[in-house]
Amino acid sequence: PETGCLSIVVLGASGDLAKKKTFPALFNLYRQRFLTSNDVHIFGYARTKISDDQLRNRIRGYLTGSKETEVSDFLQLIKYVSGSYDTEEGFRLLDKEISEHEISKKSVEGSSRRLFYFALPPSVYPSVCRMIKRCCMNKSDLGGWTRIVVEKPFGKDLDSAEELSSQIGELFDESQIYRIDHYLGKELVQNLLVLRFANRFFLPLWNRDNIDNVQIVFREDFGTEGRGGYFDEYGIIRDIIQNHLLQVLCLVAMEKPVSLKPEYIRDEKVKVLQSVLPINDEEVVLGQYDGYRDDPTVPEHSNTPTFATVVLRIHNERWEGVPFILKAGKALNSRKAEIRVQFKDVPGDIFKCQKQGRNEFVIRLQPLEAIYMKLTVSNSDISIMIAIPEVPFIFSVEDIACNVKQPGLEMSTVQSELDLSYGQRYQNVTIPEAYERLILDTIRGDQQHFVRRDELKAAWEIFTPLLHRIDNGEMKTLPYKPGSRGPAEADELLAKAGYVQTHGYIWIPPTL
Ligand code: BG6
Repeated sequence: PETGCLSIVVLGASGDLAKKKTFPALFNLYRQRFLTSNDVHIFGYARTKISDDQLRNRIRGYLTGSKETEVSDFLQLIKYVSGSYDTEEGFRLLDKEISEHEISKKSVEGSSRRLFYFALPPSVYPSVCRMIKRCCMNKSDLGGWTRIVVEKPFGKDLDSAEELSSQIGELFDESQIYRIDHYLGKELVQNLLVLRFANRFFLPLWNRDNIDNVQIVFREDFGTEGRGGYFDEYGIIRDIIQNHLLQVLCLVAMEKPVSLKPEYIRDEKVKVLQSVLPINDEEVVLGQYDGYRDDPTVPEHSNTPTFATVVLRIHNERWEGVPFILKAGKALNSRKAEIRVQFKDVPGDIFKCQKQGRNEFVIRLQPLEAIYMKLTVSNSDISIMIAIPEVPFIFSVEDIACNVKQPGLEMSTVQSELDLSYGQRYQNVTIPEAYERLILDTIRGDQQHFVRRDELKAAWEIFTPLLHRIDNGEMKTLPYKPGSRGPAEADELLAKAGYVQTHGYIWIPPTL
């Protein structure tokens, strides 16, 4: 591992993202000793003129779950520098502070590492990159690096994203740029490649011969509260689908990479994206919840979708004919994100008249992380434990099956599940926050879970024509009631795409 001084600069330090996500993630890394006061210093930078202590006090309330002394020790690592985002003055001052810290830590052997975290609106990315390049690059003779971490929205369509990419690309190499998509830091998203490629029983099933359709779903049970202005410019497709859900799709659909080398993984993701066919308007349903336009920052006649269901079709040997249904919505009836892989019907099914549904493999990303398989089993005395060799978990259907089992001599079937619920299986294990893992990756120089420039371009290529049709009013959003499932037309589209819903069946997370 690299040694030497590590300076983490949070740009936009007084903003919401920094307070709610960036500083708490840094704090958790500090608590777990991934960052230590021996070699790390954190700098907050923003335009607001405040003192070190004022910044510390703003952050303090967001650092929870720890002893007061630990919080105070961490806060002492933070220094604040104020300056603008487009003039050299502030950045020269920042460089001076970083250099002083590096000199004071000369006793720590090794190089100087400078990490710039952009908790900023993308409109200032180009100028901030220019300032860093001019004033703040790492200068140590002993080596080290300068890296930047940037977050969506990376543009609004293909052209604007490409423009932003070239502006940044003129100043930094791809190996220095970490485009963060926090969904790639979620535990079960990180698990996808292991699940798919380390388990023999998935390998022969994971294709068009066996899988009927795939759904990747994001639901929130609250609206755009307080973010109406930002949201209205972007809408649900740019906010969730083009990035978070599409990244998940890549991991579900990609071919096996040559090895785990980040570039090989990213190569495969790009290939899948490039195989996606143009979106057919008939396979899109857009919605806007009633009351969205009551927000004073939202224009009166806004056509911005707060809900969308979009079917993507991948034109390759593995997936031809299998719909990938991406669905995301705000102000719906529940909060969850999950992947549902629905299998085809059993050919020549002798249980057909008694059966309630299809096999489904569900990966629940949040909340209550779980992996479960919906199965049809005999509705008599069920007691199955399957231990899978070399996979560190045990599936058990016993407990849940008890809820549905009815004693009797008649032969009947029921839907149940093999269930790996993380809360139950990994008790006392805290699942790290997505941002924690990803920041640690940036320090370690692992770009596997970050979006490469060509990947971003391919993602925008898929959605740009549709987004333009929405923006110029060719495609209309349908109203839906807050707290509902979204427009009924979306369920009709799901059914048309081949998804078979099992009515009356719900997954009950096991209790501890
Ligand atoms: C953000 C979106 O990227 O992700 C938000 O801008 C959304 O609109 C959030 O609420 C959801 O993240 P999570 O981790 O809570 O699913």
